[in-house]
Amino acid sequence: MNFIVLTIFPEMFNPFWEHGIIKRAIDRSKILASAVDIRDFAEGRHRITDDRPYGGGCGMIMKPEPLAGAIRAAIKKTPLSKRILLTPQGRRFDQSVARELASSDGVILVCGRYEGVDERICHDFIDDEISIGDYVLTGGELAAMVIIDAVTRLIPGVLGGKDSAEKDSFSESVLEHAQYTRPSTFEGIDVPEVLLSGNHQEIEKWRLETSLIRTFLKRRDLLENRCLSLREIEILKKWCHDIEKIVYDQSIHGPDALSGG
Ligand code: ADE
Repeated sequence: MNFIVLTIFPEMFNPFWEHGIIKRAIDRSKILASAVDIRDFAEGRHRITDDRPYGGGCGMIMKPEPLAGAIRAAIKKTPLSKRILLTPQGRRFDQSVARELASSDGVILVCGRYEGVDERICHDFIDDEISIGDYVLTGGELAAMVIIDAVTRLIPGVLGGKDSAEKDSFSESVLEHAQYTRPSTFEGIDVPEVLLSGNHQEIEKWRLETSLIRTFLKRRDLLENRCLSLREIEILKKWCHDIEKIVYDQSIHGPDALSGG
């Protein structure tokens, strides 16, 4: 998998390449990654990469010639790579887009700056436009890092555990279950007993339940759009039953029933 980032701030990527899982993926040749300075393809003594918009208006636009030169040079290195422009106008990046990119040969990530890039670049040099969310960043660099990070960890052999990427939050459109590590008691709060029991079947059941509860409480939209398994339906039905019982009991006997008042 080859990532080529086209940017006017290539130095921003140095610390990114040099830490954690990304560094390990580069060291183990799981990915190739480079940041190329768009300015290297700009003409003139000042190597200008932006200019005023035709028709007036505020802000500056990225000039087409340096971008075209940088994209052409990147295509020469990796002809099969997808050319992606990072822009708040693009389709929304999510786990399924990450999976889609992870199965491609490579990506050329074009980082826009200023008020945008000349439209002729979008038409003739770009395959796809991606946004990492409905907010406006000062440039595409952070968006490129987000995408590289999310895609890299999906590449086989990048993460330690054999199946740690598949079991993640979102990989099956439910959130990941609650996690605990040592000590078994922290500031008076114990780790759930079942996790210390060594009973793997019970632990798996508990994990599925906490995963469904979290998804229901935090991201109900994910659950509504998910095709539930029979086991999951059973768990949800049991909650419905338990909740209905609480509501029924309280409505028959009144809220004071518990306090005896
Ligand atoms: N550039 C500026 N804002 C952006 C965003 N939200 N996503 C991707 N690229 C951007």
